[in-house]
Amino acid sequence: MVFYLYELGNNHFQHFDKEEFMEMKKILIVFGTRPEAIKMAPLVKEFEKYPKDFDTRVCVTAQHREMLDQVLTFFDIKPQYDLDLMTPGQDLYGLTAAIITELKPVLESFKPDYVFVHGDTTTTMASSIAGFYSGAKVCHIEAGLRTHNKYAPFPEEINRQITGRVTDFHFAPTQVSRENLLKENIDPKDILVTGNTVIDALLQSVEKIKREPSVLVKQLDKKLNNAPLLLVTGHRRENHGEGFIRICEALKTIALERPELQIIYPVHLNPKVLEPVNRILGEIDNIQLIEPLAYHDFIWMMDRAKIIITDSGGVQEEAPSLGKPVLVMRETTERPEAVDAGTVILVGTDTQKIIDETFALLDNETHFKEMSSHHNPYGDGKACGRILAFMKELELEEISN
Ligand code: UD1
Ligand code: UDP
Repeated sequence: MVFYLYELGNNHFQHFDKEEFMEMKKILIVFGTRPEAIKMAPLVKEFEKYPKDFDTRVCVTAQHREMLDQVLTFFDIKPQYDLDLMTPGQDLYGLTAAIITELKPVLESFKPDYVFVHGDTTTTMASSIAGFYSGAKVCHIEAGLRTHNKYAPFPEEINRQITGRVTDFHFAPTQVSRENLLKENIDPKDILVTGNTVIDALLQSVEKIKREPSVLVKQLDKKLNNAPLLLVTGHRRENHGEGFIRICEALKTIALERPELQIIYPVHLNPKVLEPVNRILGEIDNIQLIEPLAYHDFIWMMDRAKIIITDSGGVQEEAPSLGKPVLVMRETTERPEAVDAGTVILVGTDTQKIIDETFALLDNETHFKEMSSHHNPYGDGKACGRILAFMKELELEEISN
């Protein structure tokens, strides 16, 4: 219990239990895609530990459907609001408009004090604007990542910048992201460096997953038969079209020239990804194209892999913690920390570069070992605890003022 002096007038002071004066604050946590769900799940759980302080509700836009539901099931999250917005082959215009419009009744009925958004998706950007329109304070998790290139990643760099403009409290994962926000004249008192919540999710799950692998991964592992594993994911919009064709050509060459390798590629459900990947890589013996893996199976697969090739943001953050070398199929990254630490190399979508860097890792033991050392530039697994402490502190400040 915390006791404070409270001025009653006429120079009378009295002790009060401040918790009695704390009005329960309403928190709306909004997300829509697989990576947002993974990174918001530990925050939902953390808020739920304090039901006397916060009335916490989850709203999913369902920008993703199957890939979102996999995560909700794993973390046992049952959203209070499900906008169910995904349509096959959706575009940015319709999705942005639908999110803002469909969030309105949720915001008007629940009237949150704080709206939490995460990262850089269309859900993030549109929900932050809707939250701002409603008069709630906007809280941005994974704030401050920048490439300063408007078109890479597209449209995520601009989504982050727009979200940053309407955000009241910025939860930055690293010092680098904090510096980016300071350069945009954000008040330092509104920024908290927390570490990335993706590491909270990873550390809370990884031991359990290693102890209890699912039937599916046991089957995949049996099929691998101790072969070295190259794990692949890819979905970025700026790589759609020519970029994906170059990526698939590289994977085909690697598979054909190294038959001892096994390549597993859980293919993203975007039709613009599914089509070229199935067409170019569908018939190669040592490439297994599979459906997106549930989060726990994917973590297990990353841990089993020798090398990871990806354009994913989240995978770039998880792999250094697992000590896995990552080739990132992007020209630039808003996550420079792992590049600096030496676990990540940017290879873009240049077919020859992807092949050369993969062979260098397979053939040069020293290089492989250098890239495989464990690094944790993105957090210590305590990000959500820090965010909650900050929110509680805000409440105490409000009562004191
Ligand atoms: C989105 C995000 C991207 C994020 C990625 C994570 C935007 C603009 N893009 O890209 O920042 O890195 O998610 O994966 O916010 N689909 C399904 N089922 C699913 C998910 C997707 O069928 O569970 C298909 C649908 O046809 C959908 C399409 O994929 O229309 C594209 O989904 P969308 O969220 O617009 O783009 P992503 O490429 O997934
Ligand atoms: N992931 C997963 N199953 C898969 C591939 C990835 O659960 O088959 C997880 C991965 O562990 C990471 C997140 O999804 O946490 C990354 O999502 P994605 O690459 O779709 O989006 P990005 O991080 O690039 O925004």
